[in-house]
Amino acid sequence: MRTRMVAGNWKMNMNLQEGVALATELKQRVTNPGCEVVIGTPFIHLTEVSRLLEGSPIRVAAENCADQVKGAYTGEVSAAMVRSTGATYCILGHSERRAYYHETAEILKKKVDLALAEGLRVIFCIGEVKEERESNRQNEVVAAQLEGSLFHLSEEQWKQITLAYEPVWAIGTGLTATPEQAQDMHAYIRSLVAKHYGEQVAEDTTILYGGSCNEKNAAELFANRDVDGGLIGGASLVADKFCAIIAAR
Ligand code: 13P
Repeated sequence: MRTRMVAGNWKMNMNLQEGVALATELKQRVTNPGCEVVIGTPFIHLTEVSRLLEGSPIRVAAENCADQVKGAYTGEVSAAMVRSTGATYCILGHSERRAYYHETAEILKKKVDLALAEGLRVIFCIGEVKEERESNRQNEVVAAQLEGSLFHLSEEQWKQITLAYEPVWAIGTGLTATPEQAQDMHAYIRSLVAKHYGEQVAEDTTILYGGSCNEKNAAELFANRDVDGGLIGGASLVADKFCAIIAAR
């Protein structure tokens, strides 16, 4: 059975007190969601937010982890450290990390392996930039991202992966992919997964859509056969909006 999911990605927003206040409100409001609900927070929130969400169905994700196990890497946070906070997910491969922090497919492959080795589930982001979409290269871009960082995984490991298709041109721009564009790409991604892991594994793989997904367009996006939920940026910072998106799933 495929897991439906709504995941928030707070990015670099909210100080500790603001984050705790939002998580507290979500805990009160999200008591019986019809899908898996995850919030991705900055590292500094993980411990406190995980603790306060004990007994809640909401799971907690880091937005990144290091590509090394441990040691002299000043400022980095390892997968084991993330796991020790109580977080159970890690978002990896976000386009902002690829673009601003030069994370290559090879680096992301290492991060995925380390996160899985620590027992974290991974929400792995893929997606093309505007120029690639305009030259109709979105399929090859996404295929290369999967090939470069994920398709070395065993079938057992693959079950810990949630994919998030996030067209970069749609992130934070208000330009959402049309339901048709999302469905086409999600079906294509599922076909690639089927080629590597077989039809059943592909059927069971959760593929989220991300990029200006909000309380107004979520239902229309989620109505598509291969769109299993959303990875939400801006709208995950406002409890009313995030709860409405969860209700739409
Ligand atoms: P927005 O929902 O703000 O467009 O961000 C999407 C995103 O990048 C989630 O990871």
